[in-house]
Amino acid sequence: MQVIRVKNYNEMSEKAADMLAAQVKSKPDSVLGLATGGTPEGTYKAFVQKALQENFSLSELTTFNLDEYVGLSPQHPKSYHLYMKNHLFQPLALQPSQTNLPRGNAPYLEKEAERYERMIKEVGGIDLQLLGIGENGHIGFNEPGTSFTSRTHIEKLNPTTREANARYFENKEDVPEHAITMGISSIMDSGSILLLASGERKKEAVKRLLEDKNTREDFPASSLRNHPYVTMVADEEALAAV
Ligand code: GLP
Repeated sequence: MQVIRVKNYNEMSEKAADMLAAQVKSKPDSVLGLATGGTPEGTYKAFVQKALQENFSLSELTTFNLDEYVGLSPQHPKSYHLYMKNHLFQPLALQPSQTNLPRGNAPYLEKEAERYERMIKEVGGIDLQLLGIGENGHIGFNEPGTSFTSRTHIEKLNPTTREANARYFENKEDVPEHAITMGISSIMDSGSILLLASGERKKEAVKRLLEDKNTREDFPASSLRNHPYVTMVADEEALAAV
């Protein structure tokens, strides 16, 4: 894993946006895997600015997001569908046919998970997957204990994950109990991975990822050690315990 150390959140966002832009410029029909949460917000903002300034083509781009909360419609204010629309898809004027997220309100969730895997396969897989990291080492919504062979599936969220994400909801009871997420194995199929980590809250997870040499299912991010092309862009606070 290549580690790029940056000063702060802004530098991380700029660096990540540069890397996304380089990917799209070198391969306009790229398939990008995208993440949500607080971490990539700045990256999306910087990427939008770059795309508008440099005016590179986005018409052949396809995107697949990692996950969505179960039970939330795409229009729900806290859904990842709406997050992506607001932060990236609308500012870039991407067509709905270019963007994909698993549907958290699909009537048959297992079928939806299979459909999502099929869709990714049909476009030839993800070229570059953007990832954040949970405080407990989750990637996507793959909580500790998730099998490294998992594909897109329904995951029960840990109380600590619901707690960490409660800041985006009015009441912490409103945080859904389940999510539909790409699995560890789906993530590992990507051609390359760009992992972002910023802030003090992530320092223990980053330390464990970099220093604990065990690759174990109780720490999902450790699966990334088996991938040949992972770059982590982390700021000083996230690297503070290393
Ligand atoms: C969320 C998302 C992850 C994200 C992580 C960290 O639960 N499902 O994709 O990487 O938790 O979120 P944040 O960036 O807000 O710290």
